[in-house]
Amino acid sequence: MSMVNPTITIIGTGYVGLTTSAVLSNAGYKVYAVDTDQMKIDTMKEGKAYFFERGLDDFVRNGVESGRLMPTTSYEDSVPHADIIFSCVGTPSKDDGSSNLDYVYCAAESSAKCMKDGCIYVQKSTVPVGTGRGVIARIGNVNPNLKFDYVSNPEFLAEGSALFDALNIDRIVVGGDNHKALESVLRIFKKVDDFSKKLDHSKYKAYVGFYSGKVVNIKDSDFSQREVRTSLESAELVKVAANSFLALKISFANSVAMLCDTVGADVTEVMNGIGLDHRIGRAMLYSGLGWGGGCFPKDVRGLISVYKENNLDSPIINATVEVNNGMVAYVVKKLQRIVAIGSCRIAILGLSFKPGTSDIRSSQSILLANRLFDMGAEVVTFDPQANREARKELSKGVEICTSIEEALKDSDVVVIATEWKEFLEYDWKSARELVSGNVLFDARNRLDKKILTDIGFKYVGIGR
Ligand code: UGA
Repeated sequence: MSMVNPTITIIGTGYVGLTTSAVLSNAGYKVYAVDTDQMKIDTMKEGKAYFFERGLDDFVRNGVESGRLMPTTSYEDSVPHADIIFSCVGTPSKDDGSSNLDYVYCAAESSAKCMKDGCIYVQKSTVPVGTGRGVIARIGNVNPNLKFDYVSNPEFLAEGSALFDALNIDRIVVGGDNHKALESVLRIFKKVDDFSKKLDHSKYKAYVGFYSGKVVNIKDSDFSQREVRTSLESAELVKVAANSFLALKISFANSVAMLCDTVGADVTEVMNGIGLDHRIGRAMLYSGLGWGGGCFPKDVRGLISVYKENNLDSPIINATVEVNNGMVAYVVKKLQRIVAIGSCRIAILGLSFKPGTSDIRSSQSILLANRLFDMGAEVVTFDPQANREARKELSKGVEICTSIEEALKDSDVVVIATEWKEFLEYDWKSARELVSGNVLFDARNRLDKKILTDIGFKYVGIGR
């Protein structure tokens, strides 16, 4: 057993597991990446990710070619070698909003059968507070003589900037009972930080700053300043509380936007004014169609369930969801006041839940496209990366185009539903000749109202 240069096994190759295994192998660790899905493992072996994430393919390819990243479908071939195991499996929502922990427990029980003594089992999957104790008990039941430690180590990377986030660690939270185990996990990421300090990060920066407002400059920052050691329960709660707070910020901005529409203020100006207060910050105050994705919807509902299970209520978190659930209807209502939706050809630009990813889980853009289609509109759509993924979620009659121009052609209304750079940097002057109507609904408030108006568009935003 070597805790100086430990061998690592990562279970689950979703956004977190795949990115983490790619980064750790590039930083010099020997990493087994386990997934039961043969397609995901085969794609990794070819040196690629099975989803779109800027820069990630290079890391996967380097890892595999160096021999340090070893994708496999077998626990037996990977877990016995591990000094440290990271569990990165999915925790989808059940119908009642609580988290389905089947994969979390299954990964732990399968590992328990072949873990070696002294191994550290690290939970990166987002789980409700209290789950860690349950996992410890289950591992103990399967393998009563096993000596192991358990650490909660929540992950904070965001899709679209996953690689940048994994390499620019703004804080690393570790929670558990054994202080030595916490230090071993921190050491793993200290080495990533050292590795990262030597890299040029410009290649995978497209949506950083522009999107998340992340400003950490790791080159001048001591890693120890970014370490947070907590109890097991606190670390579990940090993750869902952080995501719920970020979702709350967005819902707050959207609440202010709705007032702006009525009183004639501009929400972008208001948020710029608010965001410069360093206690508040500008990030996550971009109003628009609302939040989606594989994390916020699941984690906020999960936290509400935890309150309920403890006979508590959190009106502020309930309201966060309520505001978000109303955003698509709000956009439809605003559009209805301008055009007769049922007789329009509407081009929806952007289908992924945010720019920089092909992920369409809980995408507000897709909800909007389907809603407009149900109201009788002819709906045409385009996304730079998520066309294929969106097909199964879009109503049958919604058309998917292969270019922006094809979507724009003869449309009465253009909606920016996801703020891809391709749309923000588009030559909107030339677009005027393609479209039939002149309404441009910027449902992410990212275009310049004055420029668009000067070109001849009737610019509509949310709260501006
Ligand atoms: C989120 C968190 O930001 C990560 O820190 C966390 O690790 C991750 O969840 C997770 O739990 O795994 P992610 O869902 O990838 O990351 O994306 P975000 O950038 O947080 O965006 C979420 C949604 O909020 C998107 O639909 C986006 O369009 C929307 N959003 C974001 C806004 O409407 N306004 C904003 O100002 C920011």
